[in-house]
Amino acid sequence: MLDATASAPTSTTGSFTIGDKFVSVPVRQGTLGPSVVDIGKLYSQTGVFTYDPGFTSTASCESKITYIDGDNGILLYRGYPIEQLAEKGDFLETCYLLLYGELPTAAQRADFNYRIRRHTMVHEQLARFFQGFRRDAHPMSVLVASVGALSAFYHDATDISEPHQRMLASMRLIAKLPTLAALAYKYAIGQPFIYPKNDLDYASNFLRMCYAVPCEEYEVNPVMARALDQIFILHADHEQNASTSTVRLAGSSGANPFACIAAGVACLWGPAHGGANEAALKMLEEIGTVKNIPKYIARAKDKNDPFRLMGFGHRVYKNYDPRAKIMQKRCHEVLNETGRKDDPLLEVAMELEQIALSDEYFIEKKLYPNIDFYSGITLKAMGFPTSMFTALFAVARTAGWVAQWKEMIEDPSQKIGRPRQLYTGAKQRDYVPIAQR
Ligand code: CMC
Repeated sequence: MLDATASAPTSTTGSFTIGDKFVSVPVRQGTLGPSVVDIGKLYSQTGVFTYDPGFTSTASCESKITYIDGDNGILLYRGYPIEQLAEKGDFLETCYLLLYGELPTAAQRADFNYRIRRHTMVHEQLARFFQGFRRDAHPMSVLVASVGALSAFYHDATDISEPHQRMLASMRLIAKLPTLAALAYKYAIGQPFIYPKNDLDYASNFLRMCYAVPCEEYEVNPVMARALDQIFILHADHEQNASTSTVRLAGSSGANPFACIAAGVACLWGPAHGGANEAALKMLEEIGTVKNIPKYIARAKDKNDPFRLMGFGHRVYKNYDPRAKIMQKRCHEVLNETGRKDDPLLEVAMELEQIALSDEYFIEKKLYPNIDFYSGITLKAMGFPTSMFTALFAVARTAGWVAQWKEMIEDPSQKIGRPRQLYTGAKQRDYVPIAQR
């Protein structure tokens, strides 16, 4: 039975008994959010492990970067509400904030933007790798490989014990991810690669690398650029989610940052995580018309049917995802700009949202639309194929991954991540020669 009295702001003591053993554990309090019971010495004191599949009650690290209050729908980067950053800031400023902990001054911002823009090109030999992929390769498969391959090119940024190299690798990753994602896209559609143009802002540069062709002038649409920049801000970090935890775990062994971020890209790909925007759009397409919605709602509620409403529910948000609210507004702007405001997909999305929000099953389980519900429709209206959605998420999340990776490396208490297990396999037994089996 845990008995923690939170009298001191930073640390108290909790106690409980396991069998006949009385255990006293520190209970640490952060600046916001639930306290944590520090069970680091539990095994040496009692001989038992804790068990928490999916980490639903486990804080895996201490962090100063991002805070989420899932019950109240709050998301803060370094203390700043996501709504304010999305409305008033831009993506590179957000990257600076995540990496350095403070908003930049005008001079710091100009210097940071300059340094990121200086790193947007990838080595020509790396660009040639792309020719080896099948032309129908999923952009995420290309991204996993090409991000990992960066470590073969930047030996001057892989010594993780060097602060300068850590920052250089972080900046290179933020700068080069859009280039790699755009290369993956161009390769898939058989168009020539477009080099970055460093007088453009981050989002505009990415749009140009994706949509320009050498035989025509390309003019960036400012509404699209602003929408994309905001999508990047909204996806930049999200605390200790699956891909970020993957980056931290990979990095805890001392692996180089390019390899760690490639691991993060791989984890992000899954449909329960970054792949959800692609899955949400496919689901809307499958539903097709408003009259089919009740059938799909019934399927989502059926315990014997594995179908889930993609773009609904979140491990942490048990309230409206604050990013979804911003994304919903931006989605309408983009649809207006592209003349697709009567897109039947949007009609299905709106109706689905209304029905799900008033349905007892979804209310009781606190399943609200998440950011992926709207980002898919927005990205589709911007002209991106569904296969690129998660790649765009990876471009944005790289900012959070590198910030979290750096924080971990710079944490003096950092050690290799090595979870334990509850073993339920066979007890020790003797080898049986094949003739006797
Ligand atoms: N549709 C129908 N039922 C659902 C859904 C859904 N989208 N999500 C959860 N449930 C039900 C689930 O069946 C379970 O019911 P019961 O208690 O009767 O067994 C209950 O709600 C709790 O679900 P859970 O799987 O235990 O919750 P979780 O916190 O492990 O899962 C989630 C979170 C995001 C994986 C899940 O809600 C889901 O699969 N959603 C659809 C995929 C999606 O949109 N993912 C994007 C997440 S946001 C992007 C990001 O941050 O990466």
